[in-house]
Amino acid sequence: MAEDTSWMTAGAGEPAPSDELHPETAHPARIYNALIGGKDNFAADRLVAERLSAVVPGAVAGAKANRAFLGRAVRAAAALGVRQFLDIGTGIPTAGNTHQIAQSVEPSARVAYVDNDPIVLAHARALMSGPGHGATSVTRADLRETEALLAAPGVCDLLDLTRPVALMLVAILHFISDDEDPYGIVKRLLAALPSGSLLVLSHGSGDLVTPEQAELAERSYDPAASGIHLRTRDDIARFFDGLTLLDPGLVIAPHWRPDTPPAAGDERLGIYTGMARL
Ligand SMILES: C[S@@+](CC[C@H](N)C(=O)[O-])C[C@H]1O[C@@H](n2cnc3c(N)ncnc32)[C@H](O)[C@@H]1O
Repeated sequence: MAEDTSWMTAGAGEPAPSDELHPETAHPARIYNALIGGKDNFAADRLVAERLSAVVPGAVAGAKANRAFLGRAVRAAAALGVRQFLDIGTGIPTAGNTHQIAQSVEPSARVAYVDNDPIVLAHARALMSGPGHGATSVTRADLRETEALLAAPGVCDLLDLTRPVALMLVAILHFISDDEDPYGIVKRLLAALPSGSLLVLSHGSGDLVTPEQAELAERSYDPAASGIHLRTRDDIARFFDGLTLLDPGLVIAPHWRPDTPPAAGDERLGIYTGMARL
């Protein structure tokens, strides 16, 4: 498959990523990168990752389990015949990125990445500038601005929104507060997709830790960069209202179609995962 780099352009007037990295402020993408053992993070990010792991001992395992869920879910979506992926909250590229997995199953798969963090965009564009990538775009947009996101050329020119799309909201919705209407955001995105599309979602929950741990975990994040909003399993289930949840339903990450039997202790990991069909 020929490389398609035509989508990898920064928006007009967009500041250069290096002007906006703010290494002194911990950012969700870099904190997550630190949790899963990546190297693309700064001291401030590592500090939050350490604080988080100190209050929630399963934080590192939970982040890794979430990443592994993403890989299995992309494979499952591709196996269901879905050939288009809208991955919002891409994260800093690491092993097993959505386009690599989807295009290994089906080289013609099209993957639109969206993130609002300049460091993610810088890394994603660098990764994609090499050969061997199929139809893949990287767009800077904000999940909260659904109309602009769906109208961005990297999204609407790459994806045919009249054909099924796997909407990936993996470990992103817990960065959206109730005041920012996370349920409305998901509804508006789903309304733009045809039936046969999939919602792939994971979300941090305080259900599986003590209330004190959940509160400390929320306080570990710098609200100036992006606060974290853990939700109950019931609250997370509401994102799937009106959709058909596929097996095994809404479960913690290591229990979602595991490749190997989940380890003892995994049940404490505070991230719920699910896939549903529209
Ligand atoms: C924890 S990472 C998850 C990365 C990847 N989805 C995964 O699960 O491996 C969350 C990502 O969401 C992005 N993010 C947070 N809030 C966002 C928003 N309002 N709009 C777009 N991206 C956002 C962050 O920049 C970060 O890259």
